Amino acid sequence: MVNIILFGPPGSGKGTQSDKIVDQFGLVHLSTGNLLRQEIADKTPLGIEARSFMDKGQLVPDEVVIGMIDTCLEKNIGAKGFLFDGFPRTVAQAEALDNLLKLRKTAITRLLALEVSEEELVNRLLKRGETSGRSDDTDVHVIRKRLLVYRNETEPVAAHYAKTGKHDNIKGEGSVEEIFESLAARIRPYMEAARVEE
Ligand code: AP5
Ligand code: MG
Repeated sequence: MVNIILFGPPGSGKGTQSDKIVDQFGLVHLSTGNLLRQEIADKTPLGIEARSFMDKGQLVPDEVVIGMIDTCLEKNIGAKGFLFDGFPRTVAQAEALDNLLKLRKTAITRLLALEVSEEELVNRLLKRGETSGRSDDTDVHVIRKRLLVYRNETEPVAAHYAKTGKHDNIKGEGSVEEIFESLAARIRPYMEAARVEE
């Protein structure tokens, strides 16, 4: 299996690039943000709880998102690999993910981190907020809070995977196509190696 974490701050292009990566390589896309927004749209108890955190730019509790990911892994037995987008976001989530994958006799292959300046991130999110309907995109204070939470709680996840030499930085500014090419060049060798092993 090839299990990639697409990492980076809010607005760095994880969702945009994930769509292209799953099209090209056939990985299963697991976005905790999308899963949570679906729970909110469906007005489930989980969605109602999650919304109060998301609207403020805070993280949803670890046990909630870890449970969601466990369910998704279970639903996709036989997948050739996963693309994790917006997860793990804390070291506790990373450790839980490592354990969930180990139980399934697999592991994270690579963490690819998109690097984008803070000014560009804020501009992208405010621009998207004009049309997305995402309540966490319209208020600049909530956007700043999301970026602060990222620096404090999420960045250590990159260090967690750097310890085992699995971390790569990718320039996240430029055209969507250029960035996709850099990401695809990193992922392709692992897909080819996995195919040979089959
Ligand atoms: P989540 O949905 O994961 O959002 P995020 O990480 O804050 O980031 P975004 O989805 O806003 O940005 P993105 O990196 O996907 O970029 P995108 O491609 O959209 O999380 C939302 C909330 O849910 C969290 O705050 C938290 O409360 C909760 N949550 C989610 N996961 C959780 C977890 N694991 N634990 C706890 N809580 C969790 O692009 C952004 C914009 O830029 C778009 O408009 C796009 O068109 C544009 N764009 C993309 N690429 C380019 C480019 N190259 N040039 C110019 N513009 C570009
Ligand atoms: Mg996203």
